[in-house]
Amino acid sequence: MITEGKWIYPEAYEIDPAMRYPASYLRRRFTLDQKTEATLSITCHGLYVAFINGKRVGNHVLEPGPGNYPKRLEYQKTDVSALLQAGENTILIILGDGWFRGCTGIDGCRNLFGNRLALLCTLEDLHGNVLLQSDEAWEASQSGPIRADDLEQGETYDALMEEISDWHPVLIGEEDKSVLVQADECRISEHERFPGKLIMTPNGERVLDFSQNLAGYVRFSVNAEAGGKIVLWHGETLDENGNFTQANYDPGDRNREGGIPQKIVYTCKEGLNEYAPSFSIFGFRYAKVETDIPLESASFEAVSVYSDMEEAGYFECSDEDVNQLFRNAVWSMKSNFCGIPTDCPTRERAGWTGDAGVFVDTGMFLMDCEKVYRKWLREVALGQSAEGVVPNIAPPNNLSGFITRLIKGSAGWGDAAVIVPMALYRVYGDKAILEENYPMMKAWVGFLIRRARKSKLKNRFRKNPYRDYLMDTGFHFGEWCEPDVDSTAAMKENLTKGVPELATAYFYRSAALLSEAAGILGKTDEKERYAEVAENAKNAWRYWTLKDGKIESKRQADYVRALAFGLLDGEEKQTNAAILNGLVKENGYHLNTGFLSTPYICQVLADYGYVDSAYRLLLQKTCPSWLYAVGKGATTIWENWDAVREDGTVYSSLNHYSYGAVCRFLFSGICGIRYENGEITIAPQPDPQLRFAKARWKSPVGIIQSEWRYENGKPVFTVSIPAGKEAKVILPDGRNFMVRGEKTKR
Ligand code: BGC
Repeated sequence: MITEGKWIYPEAYEIDPAMRYPASYLRRRFTLDQKTEATLSITCHGLYVAFINGKRVGNHVLEPGPGNYPKRLEYQKTDVSALLQAGENTILIILGDGWFRGCTGIDGCRNLFGNRLALLCTLEDLHGNVLLQSDEAWEASQSGPIRADDLEQGETYDALMEEISDWHPVLIGEEDKSVLVQADECRISEHERFPGKLIMTPNGERVLDFSQNLAGYVRFSVNAEAGGKIVLWHGETLDENGNFTQANYDPGDRNREGGIPQKIVYTCKEGLNEYAPSFSIFGFRYAKVETDIPLESASFEAVSVYSDMEEAGYFECSDEDVNQLFRNAVWSMKSNFCGIPTDCPTRERAGWTGDAGVFVDTGMFLMDCEKVYRKWLREVALGQSAEGVVPNIAPPNNLSGFITRLIKGSAGWGDAAVIVPMALYRVYGDKAILEENYPMMKAWVGFLIRRARKSKLKNRFRKNPYRDYLMDTGFHFGEWCEPDVDSTAAMKENLTKGVPELATAYFYRSAALLSEAAGILGKTDEKERYAEVAENAKNAWRYWTLKDGKIESKRQADYVRALAFGLLDGEEKQTNAAILNGLVKENGYHLNTGFLSTPYICQVLADYGYVDSAYRLLLQKTCPSWLYAVGKGATTIWENWDAVREDGTVYSSLNHYSYGAVCRFLFSGICGIRYENGEITIAPQPDPQLRFAKARWKSPVGIIQSEWRYENGKPVFTVSIPAGKEAKVILPDGRNFMVRGEKTKR
């Protein structure tokens, strides 16, 4: 048991929180009578890398991973039998700052969870006998080659210090062991590699182009003389003049330490130098190289780093830009699933709730991400307040600031606590997902019920018979990032005016989903109770929003949300879908939705008969549109539609997966693969704007494939479903039939 070890502190000195310290090396020699099969369990405050007899333990990185350490600390158990030998053995563990005390969040705050690194580990044989544990017999040194390390800022490595000296005793620590959880199911590893191409930019700098924006680091090998220096700066893009830039990283509070530079400073030893950082991860496609060392024989490759997830979906169609869009979404997902889903791998690296909520349905089509989401949901639950407020970011990665103080439980963000578990359950079908999360879901809806009753603008709503369910209080991000709206100004306005249309719609949605979850878990009373809350919230929304059955708004988002969430009844649906279609058309087939409703717009249009408009939106090349970014050479999804403007100037993140949520439409709309609660439906929505489209998805019940191609002006469909399974096929003209097991052609 890992708890048999003692917490040990490698830094046997006073820690000044304002200072940075080198990585700590911990060492212990031990003897085994014979070659033994054993597992090593480790965790730490910080990040660890372990070696036994000079060989790396396991092939995972950035462990123990992100988390709310004081509340839940994961440890990993690895089989190390192959590394052990009879006789003398040496274990060496290196600790770095990581999420524990390095720069995190938009402001690059430090010491979020503490300021002293600590290690806990045990080596056990297969019978559970402890062969070795962390204790006072270990020694430590801060005189190893990693002179400075930070997840965001990067690493300073001196290869001339690889012979470690200055070993000293460790201190025994008193850290909590009750928060330890074994977590081997969702580990972070190195994945794809991209060779770097050295280019000379117009301002005379040497820059490596790895051709793919990603999250990871550069691994290099170079022959050099002792003392030679290489400095690498990592950036996502070139600027309007074709020069290296980090300008778009846009740090938050510049008075705080700030997280960005994404910089490696490496001092060479004589001869061959091979290196990759141990405790840093960057978002980048380019690396600027500063060195006097000749690079002719050097090699540089970008290594992508993310949680172990298998690719689940494949999509291809006759439009190469759409194919690139699909690949970009996959890459933004890979770049943002490092232990938990985050907004971006650069500026904030934060487990924003809203982002996770808008993307989950798409994410499950792209990669097998159940474990990452489930781990993240545990973090969200840990961050929930006693009154049920869901944190904006989980686990915490910033100090309390403007956003955390003012924005509590933003509509669309907090609701992810209900949306994500239900989405996972519908696809993966494991009731335990709902059991684990039900208390959090219920507490969130409980908070919403109380908040809705506290109308601060009561007088205005006096006539609304459902006013106790109208959500006009609270401070919300709003639709967020609508292309023609200043989101920050809108957010400030929300403070006084609230966002009743949006917040009440989400209140309805969360209550309805909670009622469904209660039903699945056999909680009949609660199912009815929350169904009634949902009904009242829907009525409140309808009273507030509809005039003669029409939504009174010029914003596309309001229509999309109403249709996607089921807030409209009978003919109202078609009437409002027609208005939405009109707005899209008036806007020259451009969307103006933001974060929250962009994922649904194409599907909603297609479902109400505007397939042509849905495709025009998808295939639109001018900004705002998905393909504008593709036209600008994007290899990931951007945070803002115009993150690289027409004139080439750049701002904001180039690796936010949220707008990639449209890829669900490629699977569920264009190719029509829908899977919920164990039932497969194939309802393709073809349009001659594409000649063919095909999607393949590794669903929990096997591979589902759907493809169509226009032949003589008519679409011909091919569907394949797992052997022995049934699927309902619905053709665009409404004809439908059941298919079973094998390939069917129509
Ligand atoms: C993040 C988002 C997040 C948002 C909240 C941004 O700075 O990058 O992805 O959801 O703030 O509005």
